[in-house]
Parts: sequence; structure tokens; C-alpha cells
Amino acid sequence: MNKIPEIERTLEPALLNDWHVVAASEEIVEGELTPSTLMERDLVIWRDSSGEVHVWEDLCIHRGARLSKGFIASDKVVCPYHGWNYDGTGRCTLIPASPNETPMKKARTIVHHSQEKYGLVWACIGTPEKDIPDFPEWNDATYKTVVCGPYPFKSAYRALENFIDPSHFPFVHAGVNGLMDSPDPIPPYKVWEEGGELFSSEVQVTQPYGDPREVPVISYYSYRVMRPCVAYFKKRLVITDPERAHEGRESDRFCTFFTAQQVDPEHSIIRITCAANFDPLPTDEDVRRRQDLVYQQDADIVDTQRPERIPVDLRAELHHSTDLLGMKYRAWMRQMGIEYGTV
Ligand code: FES
Ligand SMILES: [Fe+2]
Repeated sequence: MNKIPEIERTLEPALLNDWHVVAASEEIVEGELTPSTLMERDLVIWRDSSGEVHVWEDLCIHRGARLSKGFIASDKVVCPYHGWNYDGTGRCTLIPASPNETPMKKARTIVHHSQEKYGLVWACIGTPEKDIPDFPEWNDATYKTVVCGPYPFKSAYRALENFIDPSHFPFVHAGVNGLMDSPDPIPPYKVWEEGGELFSSEVQVTQPYGDPREVPVISYYSYRVMRPCVAYFKKRLVITDPERAHEGRESDRFCTFFTAQQVDPEHSIIRITCAANFDPLPTDEDVRRRQDLVYQQDADIVDTQRPERIPVDLRAELHHSTDLLGMKYRAWMRQMGIEYGTV
């Protein structure tokens, strides 16, 4: 694969060689070129007639025009400037100004590794060292999954840290995820590292509208942070309203797989895939309505945090023992040498 050399010089391996979400699958429609930006690199994403997704640098090797302003014809990307054609492997197959010539070998686009998983398009702009993180409920037929977002945030890491922070619920999500008049104390919980990921023990919170059923619950969150920009929780739910308790079962779970696409150090796009196993299953609209509300409430506050880039040195900002998971997240990123988007 062709690579732009300066990418490899400037980005730390933990980000360069990782998978990042660059779009939701449904945004990538056959026959259309979709631009996207990942850590300031301009990308073009397209789907060929066999359904396969391609993620390339949004750059024509001829004179540097943006391929995303071109079009697709017969499964070839046609550059908007001089009409060079590129096939699905990135090879130039036609130079219209010299139609009988076989284009030189060097005439190739810069092709990135790409995959579709969990209703999302993932790309790696370096050399992938690991698989895309696991989301166990995605292939579990007892769960309904719904892709929500995109939600714009400033810092991807501040957005992720907020996702794993239960003590903001009563204030940012008053009446939804918590009670402002009687905020839940956060009892001590455990955080441990396993296989390069962070895990938490269960954290118990009271939620008046804790899931798409709009029913008051006690939720028990188990968190997992897989990558600097990917996290997950699974919560077990117990309905507290005696009148509606019959709607719940012991096995009820609501899970969220959280991803952040860093557009640049101070702009990100959050996409989440939710999974629920309730009976009856919630509708897509019920899931999205609640998530849209909650993530808007989060962005209104999280985007006011300064500095906008998250400090990974724990001596900056004032941490409390109830912030244990957030503290571990910052320390873990520091250990990994993550500089992009941090201070
Ligand atoms: S810049 Fe793309 S064909 Fe010339
Ligand atoms: Fe929140």
C-alpha cells in the first residue's frame, strides 16, 4: 500500500496503527463519494457495487485534487480535475488525455485498511496491530442493536471520559439518568487492566429514565475501555416502579459501544451502537430519542471544559476517588504515549 510518509513520522504508533471509526455504514451509499477527516487527514470513503467499502486519502496522485469532488462510474473513482480513473484497488486504469496508454505503475491512490463492523466503517491509516475491539452483543440474536449519532463534540477523550463517569448523571442528566435533589453517592468500585483494556466493577445508580422504556430503574454499570477512542458499558437494570416491575426481567441489559472519531485535536464525532435485550424490544426511534437527548446534554457541558485537550498528567486538574475510572483512563493513555489531542 502507498503511504504518505509524514503520517508515519508524526503520529504515535498507538493511534497510527489502531482502527478508528470514520463513518457509519449507512452514510456510505453505493455510487457516492463521502469525505471524512481523521486526525486532520482528509479521507474519501466509497462503496463499490459488490458492497465493499474503500477508504482512501482524499487526494489524486496526479495534481492533488480532492477525489471526493469527483464521481463514481463503473466501479471506478473518477477524479474531478483531469478525469483519471481509479479502480477498487486504487490503481489508475485510465488517463483520459491519453486513452490508449496503460497508466504507469506509480499512478495509484493512497489506500487505507478498512472494514465494516457494528454498523460502522473503520479505517487504519498505519498498519493494524490488533483487531477492532470486541462488542459481544452485536452478534447475539437476543439483542436489538441501534446505531446512534453522529454527535459532534470537541475533545474525543473528554467525551469518552464523560461516557465512563457516573457521577455527572444527577446534574447533566437530571430527571433522566439521575436525581439532582438526591444525587447517588458513588461507592468505591474497582478498576483493573486486563489484556491492554480497562475494566470496572459494577457501579450502582438511580435513573428515572435509564433506558428506552422510560421507566425508573436502578442501573448497575460495568465499564470497559478498549482503546483511547473506544469504550463500552453493559448495565443491568432493575425496575423500581412497582406498577411497572412486571415489564422487567432479571436478564434485562442495556449496552453501549462508544466510538470517537478525532477530526482534529479539538473536534470529534461520537457514534454509539446500543444493544438491548428487553421484552418487548425497544424501537429504533425509542433508543435514538433517548440517546439524542443524553448526548446533547453531555456535549453542552463537556464542550465547556478547559483546556480543550485532556491533560494526561494527573497533577493537572483535581481528581477525587470517585473519578477512579477517569484517572485510570488518563494514566493508561499516558503510558501508551498518546500525545495527539492531549496536553
Ligand atoms: S488531479 Fe486528478 S486527474 Fe489531475
Ligand atoms: Fe452523560
